[in-house]
Amino acid sequence: MPKVSTIAIDGPAASGKTVVGRLLSSQLGFQFLDTGLMYRAVTLVAIQQSTPLSNDAALTTLAAKTQIAITDTPDGARVLVNNHDVTGSLRDPEVEAAVSRISAVAGVRTALVAKQREMAAAGSIVMAGRDIGTVVLADADIKVYLEASAEERAKRRGLEKSGTDDKESVGAVQKDLEARDKQDSQRASSPLRPADDAHIIQTDGLSIEQVVAKIAQLVAARS
Ligand code: DC
Repeated sequence: MPKVSTIAIDGPAASGKTVVGRLLSSQLGFQFLDTGLMYRAVTLVAIQQSTPLSNDAALTTLAAKTQIAITDTPDGARVLVNNHDVTGSLRDPEVEAAVSRISAVAGVRTALVAKQREMAAAGSIVMAGRDIGTVVLADADIKVYLEASAEERAKRRGLEKSGTDDKESVGAVQKDLEARDKQDSQRASSPLRPADDAHIIQTDGLSIEQVVAKIAQLVAARS
């Protein structure tokens, strides 16, 4: 059996890809890349430079020439864009509102997918996103698609963002997540969907450790 060196984790917003991927990668000694940060980084630069969100050609050029360096640690990722630390701005509401539009631009995706493949070539990797199993690492050794109900995802994101899971704030977060999922799964270019050979894991009611353990079993079975 071949040894596992590439693991793709896809799924909708707040399905746990990042926390699961980060813990799994530290257990395996692999690098970890949360590709959503790259789409957020390009979105932030587009906003800062007032690039019109309707100008696909300008956004494509911007994505190709923006230098993005991501260092992942067990405590989180640090993101440098053109040598400036932008980590604290990537979840700003303006970025949140525009990132689905920008990530639907085919040229932006082509530029970022090339950078993601370069990072994968550097060694064993766990990569999280929307199109990792279908496009970026279509020949990944293990592909996982994390599912969770919109309500559970909204609860997790609400707790993470504001420390509360009261009904009103969870309802608002759920609406945002559902709007973003719709845009991400209905776009023409690399829509969010499980790869045909992905292992689908329904995570409602499971802890992070339980999800990681399920993936670790898949790794052990292949190694
Ligand atoms: O995972 P996230 O919420 O940080 O991702 C932000 C946005 O980036 C999300 O709306 C979809 C997009 N994205 C994508 O299109 N492809 C990826 N591989 C990762 C993220």
